[in-house]
Amino acid sequence: MRTPLIAGNWKMNGSLQSVIELVEGIKAGEAGKAQLAVCPPAVYLMKVGGMLDGTGIALGAQNVCDRETGAFTGEISASMLKESGCQYAIVGHSERRALYQESDELVARRFAMAAASGLVPILCIGETLEQREKGVTEAVVSRQLDAVIEQQGVSVIGQAVIAYEPVWAIGTGKVATPEQAQAVHGFIREKLATLDAGVADKVQILYGGSMNPANAGELLSKPDIDGGLIGGASLKAADFLAIGQSA
Ligand code: PGA
Repeated sequence: MRTPLIAGNWKMNGSLQSVIELVEGIKAGEAGKAQLAVCPPAVYLMKVGGMLDGTGIALGAQNVCDRETGAFTGEISASMLKESGCQYAIVGHSERRALYQESDELVARRFAMAAASGLVPILCIGETLEQREKGVTEAVVSRQLDAVIEQQGVSVIGQAVIAYEPVWAIGTGKVATPEQAQAVHGFIREKLATLDAGVADKVQILYGGSMNPANAGELLSKPDIDGGLIGGASLKAADFLAIGQSA
């Protein structure tokens, strides 16, 4: 049985004050049985981590450097994130891939550094609308997964979380239907099963892209959807908790 994981990706939103209010709101509510995690902007990690101490809600970063230490201006190392209280690190979010030209290869190296440091990488993969319309969704998610597997072997996926996020559904209000999402989740798990059945069975595969309290229940009822990576709806404590409760 895979424990559902509901992770909030706050992206570059909020202020110190609004972040404090959001964490207080989440702490005050009913979380349900899912594992919850929040990924605040890096400057707020230590503050949020301190506030979450003892709550069981995990902390995650939105990215991680592919190098250990040194002259990499603007980057944050995995050991710094660990020290700040992070358990998770998102890698390969489509905004990083599209807006900051992060290649499959760079994402795989960021993944490797996170995993080697004891962070759980949340590897984001997903196709654009154009790719979906061309019928190459499976080829795209395969390529994004293979970049990691070829560098590090399949067993490392067993220590990670996969987030399937169709790019056309992110921040657009256009959610994948539960059937569309399940089809890709099932494909990902089957592909992993051809390499290592144990890893395929164990790995949590989250759905991301306009998930909200109204559509979460149906998405999360699908056999291969093990949770959500939530953007917009994670910025409202009540919505985030409601998604957690439907998991
Ligand atoms: P969204 O973002 O829920 O706002 O669509 C999801 C994500 O980008 O992780």
